[in-house]
Amino acid sequence: MGFNKFMGGLRKVGRQYVLPVRKIQQTIHLVLKNISKEMDAGDYLNMIDLGAGTLFWTEQIIKNAPTKCRMYAVDPIYDEKFNIDTVISKSAFFKKADDKKLICENGEVYLCQSIDDIFLDCERIDCTFICDTIHHIDLAIWQSIFDALSDKSKSIIIKDMDAYRKFRNALNRLHDRVLNGEKIVNVYPDRLCQELLGKGYTVSKIKPVYKLWYPHFIMFAIKK
Ligand SMILES: C[S@@+](CC[C@H](N)C(=O)[O-])C[C@H]1O[C@@H](n2cnc3c(N)ncnc32)[C@H](O)[C@@H]1O
Repeated sequence: MGFNKFMGGLRKVGRQYVLPVRKIQQTIHLVLKNISKEMDAGDYLNMIDLGAGTLFWTEQIIKNAPTKCRMYAVDPIYDEKFNIDTVISKSAFFKKADDKKLICENGEVYLCQSIDDIFLDCERIDCTFICDTIHHIDLAIWQSIFDALSDKSKSIIIKDMDAYRKFRNALNRLHDRVLNGEKIVNVYPDRLCQELLGKGYTVSKIKPVYKLWYPHFIMFAIKK
């Protein structure tokens, strides 16, 4: 096993301590099971992983999906300088098809810099997964992303930090500021919920989950 794969494995273990990995997986499973019931046999689940970063969740989702997946992994980091081989070196799951596409046993992944790249050639999105990304997006940009998504995406799963938990949220802000040099935006789950209801989604009960000092919440929304 190479050093990069070893570090990738170590990071996966570390996530279990700071992230509600099992609860997120259960939520994804529930939503995808529901959505796939309405699909024809052989259809691909069309999904977006918004702010996909290292593709940790993209991999988890495809591995456990009830059917084949076509994943659009969206992140501004996938620019001309991005080297897709860095992903391959950390995961034994994906194989490189070309500079913007990965393949695996039950799916394919397209790396996109913006959601606008997706909607040019994909009419239907079954599920959009957004983990710890909204708190990195300016409100005005988020509004335009959200408007585009809510027109197209049948379901949306969100995991983020609850800004109502002031002390814990401040610790997370400190973490992002000091360790990553990033400024973060407060995310209020009930405001997100109102936005989703306003776009015609049915929203699940918002689940708060603490891991160490992190005030996570998980919610999902489905259009009937
Ligand atoms: C904390 S990381 C989360 C990565 C991944 N979702 C995970 O949970 O492992 C936040 C990611 O959001 C991405 N991001 C920032 N602004 C974005 C935007 N406008 N659209 C999509 N992704 C964005 C960042 O580049 C970063 O990879």
